[in-house]
Amino acid sequence: MTPSDTDTVTEQFRKMVSIAGCRHQFPLLRQYVNGKPLVYFDNAATSQKPQAVIDAMMRYYQESNSNIHRGVHSLSERATQSYEEVRHKVRAFLNARDHREIVFVRGATEAINLVAHSFGRLALREGDEILISGMEHHSNIVPWQILCEERHARLHVIPITDAGELDLEAFPALLTERTRILAITHVSNALGTVNPIKQLIAQAHAKGIPVLVDGAQAVPHMHVDVQDLDCDFYAFSAHKMFGPTGVGVLYAKSRWLEEMPPYQGGGDMIKSVTFEKTIYNDPPYKFEAGTPNIGGCIGLGAALDYLRELNMDAIRRFEDDLLAYATARILTVPGVRIIGTAREKAGVLSFVMEGIHPHDIGTVLDVEGVAIRTGHHCAQPVVQRFGLPATARASFAFYNTKEEVDAFIKALHKAREVLG
Ligand code: ALA
Repeated sequence: MTPSDTDTVTEQFRKMVSIAGCRHQFPLLRQYVNGKPLVYFDNAATSQKPQAVIDAMMRYYQESNSNIHRGVHSLSERATQSYEEVRHKVRAFLNARDHREIVFVRGATEAINLVAHSFGRLALREGDEILISGMEHHSNIVPWQILCEERHARLHVIPITDAGELDLEAFPALLTERTRILAITHVSNALGTVNPIKQLIAQAHAKGIPVLVDGAQAVPHMHVDVQDLDCDFYAFSAHKMFGPTGVGVLYAKSRWLEEMPPYQGGGDMIKSVTFEKTIYNDPPYKFEAGTPNIGGCIGLGAALDYLRELNMDAIRRFEDDLLAYATARILTVPGVRIIGTAREKAGVLSFVMEGIHPHDIGTVLDVEGVAIRTGHHCAQPVVQRFGLPATARASFAFYNTKEEVDAFIKALHKAREVLG
Protein backbone atom coordinates (compact mmCIF):
# COMPACT_ATOMS: atom_id res chain seq x y z
CA MET A 1 0.00 0.00 0.00
CA THR A 2 1.46 3.38 -0.98
CA PRO A 3 1.21 6.44 1.31
CA SER A 4 -1.42 7.93 -0.98
CA ASP A 5 -3.53 4.74 -0.74
CA THR A 6 -3.30 5.05 3.05
CA ASP A 7 -4.42 8.66 2.85
CA THR A 8 -7.35 7.70 0.70
CA VAL A 9 -8.42 4.93 3.07
CA THR A 10 -8.03 7.28 6.07
CA GLU A 11 -10.03 9.95 4.28
CA GLN A 12 -12.73 7.42 3.37
CA PHE A 13 -12.86 6.22 6.97
CA ARG A 14 -13.19 9.81 8.18
CA LYS A 15 -16.14 10.33 5.82
CA MET A 16 -17.79 7.09 6.96
CA VAL A 17 -17.41 8.20 10.57
CA SER A 18 -18.86 11.61 9.84
CA ILE A 19 -21.84 9.97 8.11
CA ALA A 20 -22.40 7.65 11.05
CA GLY A 21 -22.19 10.63 13.40
CA CYS A 22 -24.51 12.94 11.47
CA ARG A 23 -27.81 11.56 12.72
CA HIS A 24 -28.09 13.98 15.64
CA GLN A 25 -28.14 16.83 13.09
CA PHE A 26 -31.67 15.77 12.05
CA PRO A 27 -33.95 16.96 14.88
CA LEU A 28 -37.06 15.11 13.69
CA LEU A 29 -35.32 11.76 14.11
CA ARG A 30 -35.02 12.27 17.88
CA GLN A 31 -38.68 11.59 18.58
CA TYR A 32 -40.72 8.65 19.80
CA VAL A 33 -43.71 7.46 17.79
CA ASN A 34 -46.31 5.31 19.53
CA GLY A 35 -43.97 5.10 22.49
CA LYS A 36 -41.09 3.67 20.41
CA PRO A 37 -38.00 5.41 19.05
CA LEU A 38 -38.85 6.50 15.51
CA VAL A 39 -37.34 4.40 12.72
CA TYR A 40 -37.84 6.48 9.59
CA PHE A 41 -37.63 4.22 6.53
CA ASP A 42 -39.77 6.29 4.15
CA ASN A 43 -36.96 8.33 2.66
CA ALA A 44 -37.94 7.64 -0.96
CA ALA A 45 -41.20 9.48 -0.27
CA THR A 46 -39.44 12.38 1.41
CA SER A 47 -36.25 12.74 3.41
CA GLN A 48 -35.73 14.50 6.73
CA LYS A 49 -33.94 17.85 6.96
CA PRO A 50 -30.73 18.62 8.83
CA GLN A 51 -30.69 21.56 11.25
CA ALA A 52 -28.47 23.43 8.77
CA VAL A 53 -31.28 23.43 6.16
CA ILE A 54 -33.94 24.44 8.69
CA ASP A 55 -31.69 27.25 9.99
CA ALA A 56 -30.83 28.55 6.51
CA MET A 57 -34.51 28.87 5.61
CA MET A 58 -35.40 30.46 8.93
CA ARG A 59 -32.53 32.93 8.60
CA TYR A 60 -33.69 33.86 5.13
CA TYR A 61 -37.22 34.62 6.33
CA GLN A 62 -35.97 36.44 9.44
CA GLU A 63 -33.29 38.52 7.76
CA SER A 64 -33.48 38.67 3.96
CA ASN A 65 -37.01 37.88 2.75
CA SER A 66 -37.68 39.94 -0.34
CA ASN A 67 -38.55 39.42 -3.99
CA ILE A 68 -35.72 38.69 -6.42
CA HIS A 69 -34.64 40.21 -9.75
CA ARG A 70 -37.01 43.13 -9.14
CA GLY A 71 -35.96 45.57 -6.45
CA VAL A 72 -33.08 48.00 -6.31
CA HIS A 73 -33.24 47.97 -2.53
CA SER A 74 -30.68 46.13 -0.45
CA LEU A 75 -32.92 43.32 0.77
CA SER A 76 -33.95 42.44 -2.78
CA GLU A 77 -30.33 42.46 -3.91
CA ARG A 78 -29.38 40.22 -1.00
CA ALA A 79 -32.22 37.78 -1.74
CA THR A 80 -31.32 37.77 -5.46
CA GLN A 81 -27.70 37.05 -4.68
CA SER A 82 -28.57 34.17 -2.32
CA TYR A 83 -30.98 32.67 -4.86
CA GLU A 84 -28.49 32.92 -7.73
CA GLU A 85 -25.70 31.47 -5.58
CA VAL A 86 -27.80 28.31 -5.29
CA ARG A 87 -27.89 28.03 -9.08
CA HIS A 88 -24.09 27.93 -9.03
CA LYS A 89 -24.15 25.33 -6.24
CA VAL A 90 -26.49 23.12 -8.29
CA ARG A 91 -24.22 23.54 -11.30
CA ALA A 92 -21.27 22.33 -9.24
CA PHE A 93 -23.30 19.49 -7.67
CA LEU A 94 -24.26 18.13 -11.11
CA ASN A 95 -21.04 19.22 -12.81
CA ALA A 96 -23.10 21.04 -15.44
CA ARG A 97 -21.12 23.07 -17.95
CA ASP A 98 -22.90 26.35 -17.21
CA HIS A 99 -25.13 27.69 -14.39
CA ARG A 100 -27.58 28.90 -17.06
CA GLU A 101 -28.42 25.24 -17.69
CA ILE A 102 -30.07 25.07 -14.25
CA VAL A 103 -33.80 25.89 -14.11
CA PHE A 104 -35.56 26.10 -10.74
CA VAL A 105 -38.95 24.40 -10.70
CA ARG A 106 -41.39 23.06 -8.11
CA GLY A 107 -39.97 19.54 -8.18
CA ALA A 108 -39.08 16.64 -10.47
CA THR A 109 -42.73 16.40 -11.55
CA GLU A 110 -42.79 19.98 -12.78
CA ALA A 111 -39.40 19.54 -14.45
CA ILE A 112 -40.71 16.63 -16.51
CA ASN A 113 -43.96 18.44 -17.30
CA LEU A 114 -41.92 21.43 -18.45
CA VAL A 115 -39.95 19.27 -20.90
CA ALA A 116 -43.03 17.38 -22.07
CA HIS A 117 -44.91 20.59 -22.81
CA SER A 118 -42.09 22.73 -24.13
CA PHE A 119 -39.78 20.26 -25.86
CA GLY A 120 -42.87 18.29 -26.88
CA ARG A 121 -44.34 21.30 -28.67
CA LEU A 122 -41.01 21.84 -30.40
CA ALA A 123 -40.27 18.29 -31.48
CA LEU A 124 -43.36 16.10 -31.61
CA ARG A 125 -45.49 15.50 -34.72
CA GLU A 126 -48.30 13.08 -35.45
CA GLY A 127 -47.08 9.50 -35.54
CA ASP A 128 -43.90 10.24 -33.54
CA GLU A 129 -42.90 8.10 -30.59
CA ILE A 130 -41.80 8.64 -27.00
CA LEU A 131 -39.91 5.89 -25.21
CA ILE A 132 -40.12 5.35 -21.44
CA SER A 133 -39.49 2.27 -19.30
CA GLY A 134 -41.72 -0.16 -17.43
CA MET A 135 -40.44 1.07 -14.06
CA GLU A 136 -41.33 4.77 -14.30
CA HIS A 137 -42.98 6.84 -11.61
CA HIS A 138 -46.33 8.32 -12.66
CA SER A 139 -44.59 11.67 -13.11
CA ASN A 140 -42.56 10.19 -15.95
CA ILE A 141 -45.57 8.47 -17.55
CA VAL A 142 -48.58 10.76 -17.38
CA PRO A 143 -47.04 13.97 -18.84
CA TRP A 144 -45.96 11.94 -21.89
CA GLN A 145 -49.40 10.36 -22.20
CA ILE A 146 -51.00 13.82 -22.17
CA LEU A 147 -48.55 14.93 -24.85
CA CYS A 148 -49.15 11.82 -26.98
CA GLU A 149 -52.89 12.40 -26.82
CA GLU A 150 -52.51 16.02 -27.94
CA ARG A 151 -50.04 15.25 -30.70
CA HIS A 152 -51.41 11.88 -31.82
CA ALA A 153 -48.08 10.34 -30.95
CA ARG A 154 -47.37 6.92 -29.44
CA LEU A 155 -45.88 5.94 -26.09
CA HIS A 156 -43.56 2.92 -26.11
CA VAL A 157 -42.28 1.12 -23.04
CA ILE A 158 -39.01 -0.74 -22.43
CA PRO A 159 -39.99 -4.01 -20.71
CA ILE A 160 -38.39 -5.11 -17.47
CA THR A 161 -37.19 -8.51 -16.30
CA ASP A 162 -38.34 -10.53 -13.29
CA ALA A 163 -35.37 -9.14 -11.35
CA GLY A 164 -36.62 -5.61 -12.01
CA GLU A 165 -33.89 -4.69 -14.50
CA LEU A 166 -34.46 -3.13 -17.90
CA ASP A 167 -34.63 -5.64 -20.73
CA LEU A 168 -31.52 -4.41 -22.50
CA GLU A 169 -31.99 -6.87 -25.36
CA ALA A 170 -35.38 -5.40 -26.22
CA PHE A 171 -34.16 -1.80 -25.84
CA PRO A 172 -32.28 -1.11 -29.14
CA ALA A 173 -35.23 -2.09 -31.36
CA LEU A 174 -37.45 0.37 -29.47
CA LEU A 175 -35.25 3.29 -30.58
CA THR A 176 -36.78 3.97 -33.98
CA GLU A 177 -36.53 6.79 -36.52
CA ARG A 178 -39.80 8.13 -35.04
CA THR A 179 -38.53 8.23 -31.42
CA ARG A 180 -38.27 11.87 -30.36
CA ILE A 181 -37.18 11.41 -26.75
CA LEU A 182 -36.18 8.68 -24.30
CA ALA A 183 -37.43 9.53 -20.78
CA ILE A 184 -36.09 7.19 -18.15
CA THR A 185 -35.54 6.95 -14.44
CA HIS A 186 -32.01 6.78 -13.04
CA VAL A 187 -33.14 4.82 -9.95
CA SER A 188 -36.55 3.14 -9.56
CA ASN A 189 -38.50 4.42 -6.56
CA ALA A 190 -40.48 1.17 -6.33
CA LEU A 191 -37.68 -1.38 -6.85
CA GLY A 192 -34.43 0.45 -6.13
CA THR A 193 -32.93 -0.61 -9.49
CA VAL A 194 -30.08 1.60 -10.68
CA ASN A 195 -30.34 1.78 -14.46
CA PRO A 196 -27.23 1.84 -16.68
CA ILE A 197 -28.24 5.25 -17.97
CA LYS A 198 -24.87 6.25 -19.37
CA GLN A 199 -25.03 3.28 -21.71
CA LEU A 200 -28.70 3.94 -22.59
CA ILE A 201 -27.94 7.59 -23.32
CA ALA A 202 -25.05 6.63 -25.62
CA GLN A 203 -27.30 4.16 -27.48
CA ALA A 204 -30.08 6.76 -27.85
CA HIS A 205 -27.64 9.47 -28.96
CA ALA A 206 -26.17 7.14 -31.58
CA LYS A 207 -29.61 7.38 -33.19
CA GLY A 208 -29.91 11.14 -32.59
CA ILE A 209 -32.49 10.76 -29.80
CA PRO A 210 -32.30 13.12 -26.79
CA VAL A 211 -32.66 11.70 -23.29
CA LEU A 212 -34.40 12.95 -20.15
CA VAL A 213 -33.36 11.33 -16.89
CA ASP A 214 -35.64 11.36 -13.85
CA GLY A 215 -33.04 11.64 -11.10
CA ALA A 216 -35.39 12.12 -8.13
CA GLN A 217 -34.30 8.84 -6.48
CA ALA A 218 -30.66 9.04 -7.56
CA VAL A 219 -29.39 12.40 -6.28
CA PRO A 220 -29.85 11.56 -2.57
CA HIS A 221 -27.77 8.40 -2.96
CA MET A 222 -24.96 8.89 -5.50
CA HIS A 223 -22.67 11.28 -7.28
CA VAL A 224 -24.25 12.50 -10.54
CA ASP A 225 -22.22 14.14 -13.32
CA VAL A 226 -24.44 15.34 -16.16
CA GLN A 227 -21.51 16.00 -18.47
CA ASP A 228 -20.19 12.49 -17.97
CA LEU A 229 -23.67 11.02 -18.50
CA ASP A 230 -24.19 13.38 -21.45
CA CYS A 231 -27.95 13.48 -20.73
CA ASP A 232 -30.00 16.22 -22.37
CA PHE A 233 -32.27 16.75 -19.34
CA TYR A 234 -31.95 15.74 -15.68
CA ALA A 235 -34.79 16.32 -13.18
CA PHE A 236 -34.89 16.11 -9.39
CA SER A 237 -36.67 17.41 -6.27
CA ALA A 238 -35.03 19.04 -3.26
CA HIS A 239 -37.21 17.34 -0.66
CA LYS A 240 -35.86 13.86 -1.39
CA MET A 241 -32.32 15.11 -0.92
CA PHE A 242 -32.68 16.70 2.54
CA GLY A 243 -33.98 20.04 1.28
CA PRO A 244 -37.51 21.46 1.49
CA THR A 245 -40.63 20.56 -0.49
CA GLY A 246 -41.83 22.76 -3.33
CA VAL A 247 -38.53 23.26 -5.12
CA GLY A 248 -36.58 21.21 -7.61
CA VAL A 249 -34.27 21.41 -10.57
CA LEU A 250 -34.37 20.86 -14.28
CA TYR A 251 -30.91 20.61 -15.80
CA ALA A 252 -31.04 21.01 -19.58
CA LYS A 253 -28.30 21.41 -22.16
CA SER A 254 -28.13 25.03 -23.30
CA ARG A 255 -29.01 24.22 -26.87
CA TRP A 256 -32.40 22.87 -25.77
CA LEU A 257 -33.15 25.80 -23.47
CA GLU A 258 -32.33 28.17 -26.33
CA GLU A 259 -34.61 26.33 -28.76
CA MET A 260 -37.50 25.39 -26.48
CA PRO A 261 -40.52 27.71 -26.18
CA PRO A 262 -41.53 28.96 -22.70
CA TYR A 263 -43.55 26.63 -20.52
CA GLN A 264 -45.44 29.29 -18.57
CA GLY A 265 -45.84 33.02 -19.16
CA GLY A 266 -45.62 35.75 -16.53
CA GLY A 267 -43.24 38.05 -14.71
CA ASP A 268 -39.46 37.52 -14.84
CA MET A 269 -39.55 35.37 -18.00
CA ILE A 270 -39.70 38.41 -20.28
CA LYS A 271 -37.39 41.15 -21.50
CA SER A 272 -40.22 43.39 -22.68
CA VAL A 273 -43.97 43.17 -23.10
CA THR A 274 -46.32 45.13 -25.31
CA PHE A 275 -49.80 44.10 -26.40
CA GLU A 276 -48.33 43.46 -29.84
CA LYS A 277 -45.30 41.41 -28.91
CA THR A 278 -43.39 39.94 -25.97
CA ILE A 279 -39.64 39.37 -26.06
CA TYR A 280 -38.73 36.45 -23.84
CA ASN A 281 -35.92 36.52 -21.33
CA ASP A 282 -32.78 34.41 -21.82
CA PRO A 283 -32.58 30.91 -20.31
CA PRO A 284 -32.93 29.90 -17.55
CA TYR A 285 -35.22 32.86 -16.71
CA LYS A 286 -37.35 32.16 -19.79
CA PHE A 287 -38.55 29.09 -17.85
CA GLU A 288 -38.99 30.69 -14.42
CA ALA A 289 -42.23 32.66 -14.69
CA GLY A 290 -43.53 34.29 -11.51
CA THR A 291 -42.00 34.60 -8.07
CA PRO A 292 -40.17 31.33 -7.41
CA ASN A 293 -39.77 29.47 -4.13
CA ILE A 294 -36.89 31.67 -2.95
CA GLY A 295 -36.79 30.38 0.62
CA GLY A 296 -36.98 26.81 -0.70
CA CYS A 297 -34.06 27.43 -3.05
CA ILE A 298 -32.01 28.70 -0.14
CA GLY A 299 -32.89 25.51 1.76
CA LEU A 300 -31.80 23.50 -1.29
CA GLY A 301 -28.49 25.37 -1.30
CA ALA A 302 -27.94 24.46 2.36
CA ALA A 303 -28.76 20.80 1.59
CA LEU A 304 -26.18 20.82 -1.22
CA ASP A 305 -23.54 22.29 1.11
CA TYR A 306 -24.37 19.58 3.62
CA LEU A 307 -24.09 16.77 1.07
CA ARG A 308 -20.84 18.15 -0.32
CA GLU A 309 -19.38 18.09 3.17
CA LEU A 310 -20.40 14.45 3.66
CA ASN A 311 -19.31 13.43 0.14
CA MET A 312 -21.68 11.56 -2.19
CA ASP A 313 -19.30 8.64 -2.80
CA ALA A 314 -18.99 8.04 0.94
CA ILE A 315 -22.80 8.21 1.24
CA ARG A 316 -23.12 5.63 -1.52
CA ARG A 317 -20.71 3.20 0.18
CA PHE A 318 -22.40 3.64 3.55
CA GLU A 319 -25.88 3.05 2.12
CA ASP A 320 -24.83 0.06 0.00
CA ASP A 321 -23.59 -1.57 3.17
CA LEU A 322 -26.85 -0.75 5.00
CA LEU A 323 -28.98 -2.07 2.10
CA ALA A 324 -26.96 -5.30 1.92
CA TYR A 325 -27.44 -5.76 5.67
CA ALA A 326 -31.20 -5.10 5.48
CA THR A 327 -31.54 -7.43 2.47
CA ALA A 328 -29.80 -10.29 4.27
CA ARG A 329 -31.79 -9.72 7.47
CA ILE A 330 -35.22 -9.51 5.83
CA LEU A 331 -34.73 -12.88 4.17
CA THR A 332 -34.70 -14.43 7.67
CA VAL A 333 -38.37 -13.42 8.13
CA PRO A 334 -40.67 -16.31 7.11
CA GLY A 335 -42.80 -15.67 4.01
CA VAL A 336 -40.96 -12.55 2.83
CA ARG A 337 -40.30 -12.07 -0.88
CA ILE A 338 -38.21 -9.16 -2.12
CA ILE A 339 -39.63 -7.34 -5.16
CA GLY A 340 -36.74 -5.95 -7.18
CA THR A 341 -33.55 -7.98 -7.05
CA ALA A 342 -31.49 -6.05 -9.59
CA ARG A 343 -27.70 -6.43 -9.41
CA GLU A 344 -27.32 -2.72 -8.77
CA LYS A 345 -29.73 -1.09 -6.34
CA ALA A 346 -29.87 2.06 -4.26
CA GLY A 347 -31.77 2.87 -1.11
CA VAL A 348 -34.92 0.76 -1.57
CA LEU A 349 -36.12 -2.58 -0.22
CA SER A 350 -39.57 -3.46 -1.59
CA PHE A 351 -41.18 -6.66 -0.37
CA VAL A 352 -44.34 -8.66 0.22
CA MET A 353 -45.19 -11.15 2.98
CA GLU A 354 -47.15 -14.24 2.12
CA GLY A 355 -50.80 -13.99 3.19
CA ILE A 356 -50.53 -10.45 4.60
CA HIS A 357 -51.58 -7.27 2.80
CA PRO A 358 -48.80 -4.64 2.66
CA HIS A 359 -51.09 -2.04 4.27
CA ASP A 360 -51.51 -4.32 7.29
CA ILE A 361 -47.73 -4.71 7.55
CA GLY A 362 -47.43 -0.92 7.45
CA THR A 363 -50.00 -0.52 10.23
CA VAL A 364 -48.32 -3.02 12.57
CA LEU A 365 -44.91 -1.47 11.88
CA ASP A 366 -46.26 1.98 12.69
CA VAL A 367 -47.36 0.73 16.11
CA GLU A 368 -43.73 -0.33 16.59
CA GLY A 369 -42.51 3.15 15.60
CA VAL A 370 -41.31 2.05 12.15
CA ALA A 371 -42.40 4.25 9.20
CA ILE A 372 -42.43 2.56 5.78
CA ARG A 373 -44.55 3.16 2.69
CA THR A 374 -47.07 0.65 1.40
CA GLY A 375 -49.06 0.73 -1.84
CA HIS A 376 -48.09 1.25 -5.47
CA HIS A 377 -45.58 4.04 -4.72
CA CYS A 378 -46.97 6.25 -7.53
CA ALA A 379 -45.60 3.64 -9.92
CA GLN A 380 -48.65 1.44 -10.50
CA PRO A 381 -47.50 -0.20 -13.76
CA VAL A 382 -44.29 -1.61 -12.28
CA VAL A 383 -46.10 -3.04 -9.25
CA GLN A 384 -48.68 -4.59 -11.60
CA ARG A 385 -45.81 -6.01 -13.68
CA PHE A 386 -45.07 -8.23 -10.67
CA GLY A 387 -48.74 -9.28 -10.45
CA LEU A 388 -49.25 -7.32 -7.23
CA PRO A 389 -51.65 -4.60 -6.09
CA ALA A 390 -49.09 -3.21 -3.66
CA THR A 391 -45.77 -3.77 -1.91
CA ALA A 392 -44.29 -2.71 1.40
CA ARG A 393 -41.23 -0.53 0.92
CA ALA A 394 -38.44 0.37 3.32
CA SER A 395 -36.27 3.14 1.90
CA PHE A 396 -33.04 4.34 3.46
CA ALA A 397 -30.92 7.42 3.89
CA PHE A 398 -27.40 7.87 5.24
CA TYR A 399 -28.73 8.76 8.71
CA ASN A 400 -30.27 5.30 9.13
CA THR A 401 -28.48 2.61 11.12
CA LYS A 402 -28.16 -1.16 11.38
CA GLU A 403 -29.82 -0.93 14.81
CA GLU A 404 -32.85 0.55 13.08
CA VAL A 405 -32.80 -2.30 10.57
CA ASP A 406 -32.84 -4.70 13.53
CA ALA A 407 -35.87 -2.89 15.01
CA PHE A 408 -37.59 -3.08 11.60
CA ILE A 409 -36.92 -6.84 11.34
CA LYS A 410 -38.23 -7.37 14.88
CA ALA A 411 -41.39 -5.47 13.92
CA LEU A 412 -41.82 -7.67 10.83
CA HIS A 413 -41.64 -10.77 13.02
CA LYS A 414 -44.34 -9.18 15.16
CA ALA A 415 -46.47 -8.54 12.07
CA ARG A 416 -46.05 -12.22 11.15
CA GLU A 417 -47.21 -13.26 14.62
CA VAL A 418 -50.16 -10.87 14.75
CA LEU A 419 -51.38 -11.24 11.14
CA GLY A 420 -49.85 -14.44 9.79
N1 ALA B 1 -42.39 9.34 -5.34
C1 ALA B 1 -42.47 9.24 -3.91
C2 ALA B 1 -42.32 7.83 -3.43
O1 ALA B 1 -41.70 7.04 -4.09
C3 ALA B 1 -43.61 9.96 -3.33
O2 ALA B 1 -42.80 7.50 -2.37
